[in-house]
Amino acid sequence: MLPLALVVDDEPDICELLSLTLQRMGVDCHSAANLTEAKRFLVNNRYDFCLTDLRLPDGDGLHLVEYIQNGVHRDVPIAVITAHGNMDTAIKALKLGAFDFVSKPVDLERLRTLVQLALRLNQNRHRPQDKNADQLLLGDADNMRMLREQIAKVARSDAPVYISGESGSGKELAARAIHAQGARADKPFVPINCGAIPAELMESEFFGHKKGSFTGAHKDNPGLLQSAQGGTLFLDEVADLPLDMQVKLLRAIQEKCIRPIGASREVPIDVRILSATHKDLGRAVSEGCFRSDLYYRINVIEISIPPLRERSEDIPLLAEVIMQRIASSAGLATPRLSAGALSTLQQYPFPGNVRQLENILERALTLCDQQEIRSHDLLLAQDGQPFEKDEPPANANANANASEPKNPDHFDSGRYASLDEFLHSIEKEAIENALVKTRWNRTAAAQKLGISFRSLRYRLKKLGLES
Ligand SMILES: Nc1ncnc2c1ncn2[C@@H]1O[C@H](COP(=O)(O)OP(=O)(O)OP(=O)(O)O)[C@@H](O)[C@H]1O
Ligand SMILES: [Mg+2]
Repeated sequence: MLPLALVVDDEPDICELLSLTLQRMGVDCHSAANLTEAKRFLVNNRYDFCLTDLRLPDGDGLHLVEYIQNGVHRDVPIAVITAHGNMDTAIKALKLGAFDFVSKPVDLERLRTLVQLALRLNQNRHRPQDKNADQLLLGDADNMRMLREQIAKVARSDAPVYISGESGSGKELAARAIHAQGARADKPFVPINCGAIPAELMESEFFGHKKGSFTGAHKDNPGLLQSAQGGTLFLDEVADLPLDMQVKLLRAIQEKCIRPIGASREVPIDVRILSATHKDLGRAVSEGCFRSDLYYRINVIEISIPPLRERSEDIPLLAEVIMQRIASSAGLATPRLSAGALSTLQQYPFPGNVRQLENILERALTLCDQQEIRSHDLLLAQDGQPFEKDEPPANANANANASEPKNPDHFDSGRYASLDEFLHSIEKEAIENALVKTRWNRTAAAQKLGISFRSLRYRLKKLGLES
């Protein structure tokens, strides 16, 4: 059976053009001339998606968006047709739950992309959720349940989402979840750390370049936007984009095309934009460091990740899962967390959120005796502040005599200037061992270490082992 669409427009010519185009794409089509008729159609048929004009004889098309979103037809993806250049209405529609918009006069190529997206949204609706462990946002706290619901909802749309949250709270994980549950799941997810690219390389990293377009451009580079084609672009630390790049990016988002440096032609771009920063983006706008027009475009829907201290009931579960992961990647049995350690963790304010919890547990694992992590292994002071590097807790020696292979008693300030240096040396040794055993086959070494290839590459770089 062919997919079925509902087109709502009071101009017969437009209805006919849209219906013909859809039919050519293998989609059957009903057309309604006003809101009342559209609602009647919705009651009697099961549509795969709906496309509505905004100015209708008996009311506003936005009303239909709301009607669908809040009613029994919630599963029907709806897109709107806006007057050319009317971004305000387009954004209003997206906020109300429309999955996308096209502007008049309708560009047929753009319409085709939209229809394909709508149909994919539908396929994914019935697919079981991606159980990929890396992408699971764990937690049963009410605010985490709500977050997961919000994520599931925005995954059914193509609207830009801005993710706010303190550092280490899970912004990237949330972005990956939106991508993985959405219509673009089988296309690339491309994260860009906007704060990490040197200003002079930024344009070519984003938009690509042709070979020979500047000194050092030895070959064509498609750029990050093109490599995300069909998928999702995650602009991480978006507040750090320099102003001139903000202008160029805004243009790319608005026009849905880019021109690589040195290229004679523009390239159409079809990506969903997700962005995040731990900074206050609204404040950056009022301080003049972030353009309000770009802010307005990327912040159509905002999701905020609660800090870990506001979901401390999740700490036992998170700690358990994280510990299992760290221990197995180090080839160790998973130690228990003592009741005391748990309560210390649950009282700690975690300025660095889940990432900090990971770091604390990783450190504790190398300090504890094999079976149990106790409160003092966490190296968290009673007042909730982490200890300074050169100021171990008074009872640190009590657990400094665990046995091989970790040998924490090697940690004396004579050989290692700090605990971090000591831990690095352990990490380095484990990685070198794995590499030697696998004859520098990094994929095999990563497997041996129980970490991803990416993580191994990152660690090699961090430890200066990269050749
Ligand atoms: N709810 C969660 N369940 C499981 N793991 C989580 C959760 N939240 C965060 N993590 C883990 O914590 C670490 C930090 O998460 P992530 O990188 O998504 O945070 P972030 O907000 O992007 O951090 P930053 O501000 O440093 O960029 C990752 O290793 C991630 O897997
Ligand atoms: Mg991040």
